[in-house]
Amino acid sequence: MVVTPWEVRGKVDYERLIREFGTQPLTEELLKRVTKHTDALHLQLQRRIFFSHRDLDSVLDLYEKGTKFVLYTGRGPSGPVHIGHLVPWIFTRSLQEKFNTRLYFQMTDDEKFLIDDDSSLKATRNYAYENALDLIALGFKPENTFIIYDVEDIDLLYDITLEVAKRITYSTARSSFGFQDSTNIGWIFWPALQAAPCFIHKKLTGENVPALIPAAIDQDPYWRVTRDIAQKLGYHKPAQIHCRFLPGLGAGGKMSASEPETSIFTMDPPELVKRKIWNAFTGGKGTATEQRKTGADPTVCSIFQYYYYLFEEDDRKLVEREQECKTGKILCGECKKDLTEKLNKFLEEHRRKREKAKNVIEKYHIKR
Ligand code: TRP
Repeated sequence: MVVTPWEVRGKVDYERLIREFGTQPLTEELLKRVTKHTDALHLQLQRRIFFSHRDLDSVLDLYEKGTKFVLYTGRGPSGPVHIGHLVPWIFTRSLQEKFNTRLYFQMTDDEKFLIDDDSSLKATRNYAYENALDLIALGFKPENTFIIYDVEDIDLLYDITLEVAKRITYSTARSSFGFQDSTNIGWIFWPALQAAPCFIHKKLTGENVPALIPAAIDQDPYWRVTRDIAQKLGYHKPAQIHCRFLPGLGAGGKMSASEPETSIFTMDPPELVKRKIWNAFTGGKGTATEQRKTGADPTVCSIFQYYYYLFEEDDRKLVEREQECKTGKILCGECKKDLTEKLNKFLEEHRRKREKAKNVIEKYHIKR
């Protein structure tokens, strides 16, 4: 298993990540505390798609005493958005609404330019715009959402970035990120830029409140180095809530833009979605007769994961599907057909909203 900000490989053992990264599991007790402020527990918490955190308890302590927090998350615009990217954003949107709080969203067109040999600034800046449309389509509130495009908005980040960069040694950066002699120097400096939005709220408003970062767990190294220096700079340590990766449609592994056949992109037309789902890896048997007799294995099935993560919100129906799979009552073809329909309906709706986002995208752009 390899889990770094630039590479996720192998079967991810989330318990082991909690131990190795030194994060905290999301306990029943903590979730109860969250529910006090959100009335219902979000599906992604209930199903432990978000499963780990740092300092969520401290953020709630402060919140209950009257200090708000801001949300911060981001996207490396290296290509089109797939539905795996939407998972933490959907959850973030619900936090924004329930806690009525700001979201700072960083589009790292600079990061993707630096780390990918074949990319150009023109391409990453264009994807930043395209990806913002997918974000806005999810229903974020314009008055509370501040998208930062790194290249364009560098003037807002640069002073904070310098304060951060000055306090992180090369040796810390190398051991946290695995830099090599061949790593370009832009990339070595770059982590200070991902830290900057954690602290930008104070500069813009004068309020010193913590940032809570909902993101996939591979981003954790950034927050480790940022947390070490936050208090030296007079800020709260940024808190995190970490999610799992949406699996791809192949056997094991996360959904990854570098494997387009096993990823569903928001712009995939219905026929393509159908084909990808049709070719997906399942826990099915060689023949229908055999499967009717012995049942299949939903625990290894990529299709079942999609119901679990996004497309079956009703727990009772999810368990029913699982049972019918295990006992051979339902075959893979049916599950695939149902999912194709649900997915295409979702995507059609998403694209309608994405198109409308073109008229309002500037409202979401951080202002000076
Ligand atoms: N580095 C992230 C990526 O490659 C982008 C990012 C910037 C981000 N700031 C963030 C992700 C904050 C999560 C939270 O996708």
